Amino acid sequence: MKPLTNVLLSNILVRLLSFCVLVFLARFAYVVTVKGQSCDSIDFCFSSVFQDLMTEGVLSTNSSSLCIETLAAEEVIALRGIGVVKSIGISSKKLSSEGVRYGKSLNQPFKNLTFDFEFSSTSGLDQTLNPVQFALEVSRTLKPGGFFVVHTKSVNDEYSLRSLLELFDTFTLIKLREMDGLDSLPVREIILRKENVTLLKIKTANKCSVPSYKQELIRKAEPLIKQEPLKSWITLKRNIKNVKYLSTMVDISFKNRYVYIDVGARSYGSSIGSWFKKQYPKQEKPFEIYAVEADSAFYDEYKTKKGVKLLPYAAWIRNETLFFEISRDPSRKNEERGRGMGRIQAVQSSSNFMGDLNKIHGFDFAMWLKNTVVEKDYVVVKMDVEGTEFHLIPRLIESGAICLIDEIFLECHYNRWQKCCPGKRSPKYQKTYAQCLELFTSLRKHGVLVHQWW
Ligand SMILES: *[C@@H]1O[C@H](CO)[C@@H](O)[C@H](O)[C@H]1NC(C)=O
Ligand SMILES: *[C@@H]1O[C@H](CO)[C@@H](O)[C@H](O)[C@H]1NC(C)=O
Ligand SMILES: *[C@@H]1O[C@H](CO)[C@@H](O)[C@H](O)[C@H]1NC(C)=O
Ligand SMILES: *[C@@H]1O[C@H](CO)[C@@H](O)[C@H](O)[C@H]1NC(C)=O
Repeated sequence: MKPLTNVLLSNILVRLLSFCVLVFLARFAYVVTVKGQSCDSIDFCFSSVFQDLMTEGVLSTNSSSLCIETLAAEEVIALRGIGVVKSIGISSKKLSSEGVRYGKSLNQPFKNLTFDFEFSSTSGLDQTLNPVQFALEVSRTLKPGGFFVVHTKSVNDEYSLRSLLELFDTFTLIKLREMDGLDSLPVREIILRKENVTLLKIKTANKCSVPSYKQELIRKAEPLIKQEPLKSWITLKRNIKNVKYLSTMVDISFKNRYVYIDVGARSYGSSIGSWFKKQYPKQEKPFEIYAVEADSAFYDEYKTKKGVKLLPYAAWIRNETLFFEISRDPSRKNEERGRGMGRIQAVQSSSNFMGDLNKIHGFDFAMWLKNTVVEKDYVVVKMDVEGTEFHLIPRLIESGAICLIDEIFLECHYNRWQKCCPGKRSPKYQKTYAQCLELFTSLRKHGVLVHQWW
């Protein structure tokens, strides 16, 4: 999904606002109605769960029902026990319980539009390696108007709820409540209804909303450094320890792909190897890695790095040829290993530029992003582009591509105090610290979780 919204989504957003209240109330209600009774046998628990669903009209005795990845046959037995006779379970483990057949959740052995009701316990959607395909199969075999009820332990924040709802984008969220699971860890029950029509998706030209949960995450993030640091090379580097990574605040299980894009990657070791691979909390997800680097001096090294896709271009605001300053003057060669200073200069402005100029290809990074990832993907970006951020960030915002980024680590280049010569500012960059702060603030205002990179 490109920056789109649809009828469903706005519906969902309204509901999201009441997430906390809803969960609280529902939990309370559940404790009163179900926990009040003894719930010591598994069958009894599922029975009361299904009984409640029946009372709410989600399930009826004539519903054709499917339990996905049922470990033993408890759910099926419980359903049949309360009179839902047309109930069946599938399991990808070879079990021979009555009412359960062998079948994969990612390739359900049923025709389209077979069921009125599908149920996934915490051994279903929570455990799958491919939530997108899981959701497609539920959507395929469920009849319009039918219900999908999922129990999950992975929805503990609004981000993960929204990720889950994005998987089921032709469904409406009916209800969400919390209950105690078998191991007394909280379980969320989410009730979704499949809509009859594929709801109209309206493109709201390049705009994306800033849902309240994003603002909440940004409030929880480390504060921006308001004062210009005297020794930025120390202050900013140390600040990385304060960073509140998104993946330490929310559950990222229900995403499609996991993507890391290093814009201005320089050498492999400078940030991909030393930081992203080692320090970024990944919740054990496999990340695809893109390295965007315009300086060919680094290319050989990437040939041997499997799992890193090199884009040998400069991230820019359109496709065009640029001139690239490669400051590889011998005196500086060893100073910042692999984190050299490359600055790109558009062709027009290069006439009075004195330096080692290389012609390189710039590409429209925002467009590339829109063609490469979707909102269902989890996307982390590091951007260190020697001043070009003042072109790239506005372009990302204006094109809506910014909404595709979950978290961004941004180095902002300004006329900082120099290490070499106290009291002197770097002549390399025109922008001031205040302008950088403005860039960060505006990103956070747009709902983007941005961190100050050094
Ligand atoms: C299922 O049963 C309910 C009453 O229990 C009835 O209202 C409904 O029409 C039935 N649905 C079908 C598809 O037979
Ligand atoms: C079943 O549904 C899928 C998509 O959900 C569709 O691609 C396929 O053509 C359908 N098959 C039949 C036989 O209608
Ligand atoms: C779905 O829509 C079609 C066409 O609008 C209609 O014929 C059908 O009865 C609807 N089905 C349900 C379950 O609402
Ligand atoms: C820019 O370049 C990319 C990659 O070569 C290409 O896919 C895209 O269509 C180009 N865009 C424009 C507007 O020319």
